[in-house]
Parts: sequence; structure tokens; C-alpha cells
Amino acid sequence: MSLKKFLSFYKPYKFIFALVLLCAALSSLAALALPLCIRYITVEVLAMGAEEAMPLIFNTVLLMLGLIVVLTVSGVFYDYKGHKVGAMMERDMRNELFNHCQKLPIRFFDREKTGSLMSRITNDLLNMAEFCHHGPENIFMFLASFVGSFIILFNINARLTLVIFALLPLMIIYTIFFQGRLRRAYRESREKIGDLNADLEDTLSGIRVVKSFTNEEPEYKKFSSANEKFFKGRVNIYKNEAFYFSVMDFFLTPLITTGVVFAGAVFISQSTVTAPDLIVFLLYVGYLTSPLSRIAQWVGQFQDALAGFGRFTEVMNMKTEDLPAENLPAEKSPPRFKGHVEFKNVSFRYGDELENVLENISLDIPAATSIALVGSSGAGKTTLCSLIPRFYELSAGDIFIDGINIKDMDLASLRRNIGVVAQDVYLFNGSVMDNIAYGKPGATEEEIIQAAKMAKAHEFILQLPKGYSTDIGQRGIRLSGGQRQRLSIARAFLKDPPVLILDEATSALDYENERAIHESLDSFMKDRTVLIIAHRLSTLKKASKIFSLAEGNIEEALIPE
Ligand SMILES: Nc1ncnc2c1ncn2[C@@H]1O[C@H](COP(=O)(O)OP(=O)(O)OP(=O)(O)O)[C@@H](O)[C@H]1O
Ligand SMILES: [Mg+2]
Repeated sequence: MSLKKFLSFYKPYKFIFALVLLCAALSSLAALALPLCIRYITVEVLAMGAEEAMPLIFNTVLLMLGLIVVLTVSGVFYDYKGHKVGAMMERDMRNELFNHCQKLPIRFFDREKTGSLMSRITNDLLNMAEFCHHGPENIFMFLASFVGSFIILFNINARLTLVIFALLPLMIIYTIFFQGRLRRAYRESREKIGDLNADLEDTLSGIRVVKSFTNEEPEYKKFSSANEKFFKGRVNIYKNEAFYFSVMDFFLTPLITTGVVFAGAVFISQSTVTAPDLIVFLLYVGYLTSPLSRIAQWVGQFQDALAGFGRFTEVMNMKTEDLPAENLPAEKSPPRFKGHVEFKNVSFRYGDELENVLENISLDIPAATSIALVGSSGAGKTTLCSLIPRFYELSAGDIFIDGINIKDMDLASLRRNIGVVAQDVYLFNGSVMDNIAYGKPGATEEEIIQAAKMAKAHEFILQLPKGYSTDIGQRGIRLSGGQRQRLSIARAFLKDPPVLILDEATSALDYENERAIHESLDSFMKDRTVLIIAHRLSTLKKASKIFSLAEGNIEEALIPE
């Protein structure tokens, strides 16, 4: 990621953006020409006789009206379309960032806070978009009005021009000083809002825990302290903005004007400057000072955008987990597995600084058999299963499916072939139907109902207020734990994978329902490889072999009678 990458975001909009820049320059030039018309009338035309002057006055005013129209039309155009280009680029960057984020390995999400990630994807890019169009626009306008008015003024009167330029450094120094402070203030405030978001996300998603421990007070204190920091950041911005803009507009600009009046008056008394020229000079003072504060803003925005772009590229440069399947021979990504899963000397740890969770594990699961995995809590059962769909990279050893190393396999086809009913069920906001259909996009209603029936979910779904169209709330909050579990089993049934992992998939169910699901499983398991993690004897009996995991090692256990 580099400048080249950055520029590539302009590419789709280059024509409209060129037009925006043209309009920005045009409006600056039109604004520049207005005082010239005034000078023409006051200096040239008024010196003539009334008869000669009338048509000239009329024409010049007409020209001025024309300039005003150009100024307005191009102003509206570059303001509207410029912002639109910025917003479109922002949209593109955000899409790219989201898409990239999704493809990052699970390890990344283990580390990052959801709230601050959200802040990155939404807020961070706003500043960049502002810069994307204001940046080039400002350079154009700066060049047009600053350089333009300098040339005009210098031609009218060199000495008076030099007076103005002798005073301008005052503004430049003041601007540089305050831009640094403002930039720091903006950055700080952005960081604080990120923290605030992360806090908020944490508390709101854990609201039930908060309430059950009646910890509203400490949560409020935590929040209000983060909120206070954000508030202080805002106040700091307002303070600096007030000092900068007010001093610029109400002190420094009138000061320069006064300087010009003073020097002009002296020059007039020496007859080296005429009164109309002084008026023109006074009209131009604004054209010289306002681009200065504009360019100062530009510098601030630029550094801001650079920081935003830095964070953007930081994420974009992270390696995504998949090796796209482009040149993969067909035998490396079979459309459907037979289901022979083999662990060979697999070791795994979650981080280089952490201890091994799994130690030199070897395990052979022939196709179309089911095995069970037991072990105390924290033994690494879930971890072992998460290695099969390659959620994490192995620390040592290899896993083969149908004799192909999963490292060499196309990640998408690997995951398409593996169904997981996870220990902590995650359902999405939406209807029951949508959530089951997640297992097989484009599934028909019959297929969905069939899967729900197999997972013993059909009956309770029909009793929901709107049946299959019932909205289950965020994370499926409006369902019971066992109902959620059955939906996630239905989702896996619908996916119809040759390799199925059931991680305590029926732990929340009552005996009746569990037995009923086992009946469905019997027929479902027939020609599949199934890994069952369970504690209940009734579930373990489904397996042809039981393996026990302890302290990173695995060994076969006897099937209890
Ligand atoms: N994302 C993670 N990052 C770091 N360590 C982890 C992570 N997930 C699990 N662990 C650690 O790995 C070990 C094994 O966890 P795992 O979830 O595989 O256990 P388990 O056998 O499934 O336990 P349970 O029966 O309670 O579900 C635990 O000691 C846990 O602290
Ligand atoms: Mg587990």
C-alpha cells in the first residue's frame, strides 16, 4: 500500500474530479476578476466624460453580473460534486476495508476490540474522504487566488504589494503554531471517541451481566470517565479553534488592512499611489489572507489524512488467510470430501509466548466414521476441532483430509466441506428462516423446513408469533438457549457437509429433545465423518471410538458400557 494505491481510489472518478478542480479554479479566478472590474470603473471609466462612460459602466456591471453567475454555478458544482467524489471514495475504501477485515485470520479478531475496529471502519475514513477532495481542490484554489492576486497587485503597485507581503508572515507563523495544536486536538478527540465506543459496545452487549450483578454504578463511572475525556478533547478543540479563527479574522486580517491603509495613505500623500488603487488593494487583502488559512487547513487535513491512511494501510497490509485457488489443481480442492481426516504430529499454541495447548497429536479418523472427544474443561477439545477448518495455523505437524494437506487446499472449498455446530452458538439478527438458510444460501423453503424438522426445531418455530418469519433479535436473544442450539444444528444439517463437528451441540437440550435429535443424527451420520465433543454418556455412545484429551495428549478410551 502506497501513494499508488491511494491514487487508485481516484481512478473511477477522474473525469468528474477533473471537472471539480476546474470549477474550483474557475470560481477563484472569477472572484479575482471582480475587484479588477471595480478598478476599471473607478480608475479608467470615471475619468471619462459622462457620455462616453455610460455604456462602459453598463457593460462592466454586466460583466460583473456574469462573473457572479460563474462564481455561483461553479461554486455549487465543486462544493456538491467535490464532496460527492470524496464520499464515493470513502465508500470504496470502506468496502475494501470491510472485505479485507473479514478475510483476516481469527487470530486478528482475538486481539482487536470490536468497538475500536468499528470506529476504524466508520469514523477514520471520514477524515480521509474530506482530504481526498479538499486537498487537491485547495491547492488549485490557493494557486489561483494567491498567485493571481499577487500578480495583479504587483502590476498595479509594487511598493504597496511589498507592504502586504511584509505583514503576511505574521499570519503564517500564527497559523503554523495553531495548526499543530489543532491537529493534536483533533487526533486526541478521535482516539477518545474510539475508546468510548469500545466501552459502550462492551457494556451494552453484556447488559444482562451488568444487571444481574447490579453493577450499573461502576459501569456508569467507567463510562462517564471515558465520556469526560472525550468532552475535554472537544473543549480543547473549541478553544483552539476559537483562538485560531477569531484572531485570524478579527485581529490579524484587520491589522494587515490597517497596515495597508497606513502605507497607502502615506504613499498617496507622496503621490506615488492613487486613491482608487488603494481601494483595490483593500479589496484584495482578503484574497491573500483567506487562501493562507485555507492552505493551513490543508496541511492539517493532510497530516490527519496521512494518519488515517496509515491506520487504513496497517489493516490492509495484514495478510489475509486464504491463498486464492487460482492455480490449484482440481485434486487439491475436491468439490466434496470423502471425509478421511488425519492429524499427524500436530502441536498447537495460541501465541508464541504461550504454552502448547496440543502436543504432538496424531489421530486417524477414517471416512464415514464418527468419533467422540472427551476431556476436562480447557483440555483443548474446541481448539483441536477449530484446526480442521484452519481457523488457526498449526504450530507443528500436518492435518490431511482425504490425503491432501489442508495447507495446500483451497480454503473456501475446505470450509464448504466442514460443518461446525459450535459450543457458543452465534445467531444473526434476522428471522428464523434467514438464520437456518445461512447454512446454504439459496435453499428452498422445503429444505429449510426439512432441516428444522431434523433438528427438532420445527415444532417450537411454529409456535413463535410469526413462525419461520419471526425476528429472533440480536444474537438470537429472543430464543431460549436450547432453541438457539437447535437452530444452529438445523443450519449445519442444511449445509449437508461430509465432515461435521458437534462441539457440545446438544448440551443445552432436555433429555427428550436430545434423544429426538440423536435419532435424526443416526441417519445423518451414516455416510459422514463426525466429531462429537460431549460429556453425556448417551451422546458418546453414538461414536465408534472415543478419544480422551488431557494435557495436550490424546489417547483412545474405552466405550463405557
Ligand atoms: N483464542 C484463544 N486465545 C488464547 N488462548 C485460548 C484461546 N481459546 C482457548 N484458549 C486456551 O486454550 C485452552 C484450551 O481451550 P479449549 O477451548 O480448546 O478447551 P475445551 O477443551 O474446549 O474446554 P471446554 O470443555 O471448557 O469447552 C484453554 O486453556 C484456553 O485458555
Ligand atoms: Mg470447548
